[in-house]
Amino acid sequence: MRPALRIADAVPTRATVIALPPAAEGLKTGLARYDPVVAVMAAGAVVRILAPLIAAGDKSSDPAILVVDDAGRFVMPILGGTAAQANRLANALAEILGAVAVVTTATELAGVPGRGQPGGPVGGGVVGGGAPGGVDVPGRRPGGMTTGGWSGKPIFVLMGTKDMLETLTHHDELLADPMSKRSEQPEFATNPNRSARSEFLVLIGLCTHLGCIPTFRPTPGAPDIGASWPGGFYCPCHGSKFDLAGRVFKSVPAPTNLEVPPYEFESNATLLIGVNPKA
Ligand code: FES
Repeated sequence: MRPALRIADAVPTRATVIALPPAAEGLKTGLARYDPVVAVMAAGAVVRILAPLIAAGDKSSDPAILVVDDAGRFVMPILGGTAAQANRLANALAEILGAVAVVTTATELAGVPGRGQPGGPVGGGVVGGGAPGGVDVPGRRPGGMTTGGWSGKPIFVLMGTKDMLETLTHHDELLADPMSKRSEQPEFATNPNRSARSEFLVLIGLCTHLGCIPTFRPTPGAPDIGASWPGGFYCPCHGSKFDLAGRVFKSVPAPTNLEVPPYEFESNATLLIGVNPKA
């Protein structure tokens, strides 16, 4: 079933499907009548259509607009991520579709309040000052990633699929530090998966070059990264590449693997970041 119909099926009293060709007209109609709007079309096309319609510089009045690809694999908030709660909706739609929510709002990833927000924590139990903080585990969604914050840094939690875990054993020769000998991780994560439980990867989402937030790029062979790309994390700032265990590739600016923070499983649904597991 197409993504729009799957969403409408899941929340029949709260979703209206507009199938008005051409797609640009459907999107404009949706924008005039509804907030939020979920566009099942290419992100570039949505940006092109919306650009003349969005008030310049006034983020507070942005509607929530999200994009879902035609295969229903990714949900990306385009506008209104924080103020209009598009990021939260992206996570909810990802649950419905079994997709990955691609949230790029820097403040949300870093776990600090966005502009115009009251000064409370956001996301999954974010705390500052190095105190332990909770982050949700992406339960029931192999391949899904949740984000949170700890000590002012973004935290990525990825639940690897069988295929993702399998790729980790096949490209050591491409990596600068495959055994994580020069990289930072707790002792319990000094293994090829760099994790306490092999299916869950927990990383500090800051590139070890100059600290940009890498993007989650799980699709192998992505044309803009290269045919040998096994899936992982890509830092568009200067092109650093990390695999699905956060291990850095050779010949990129980042010197070491993405850092693994200390953490323990508080429950099957929540991680406590900032503490090592009890012995
Ligand atoms: S900050 Fe990531 S490559 Fe430079």
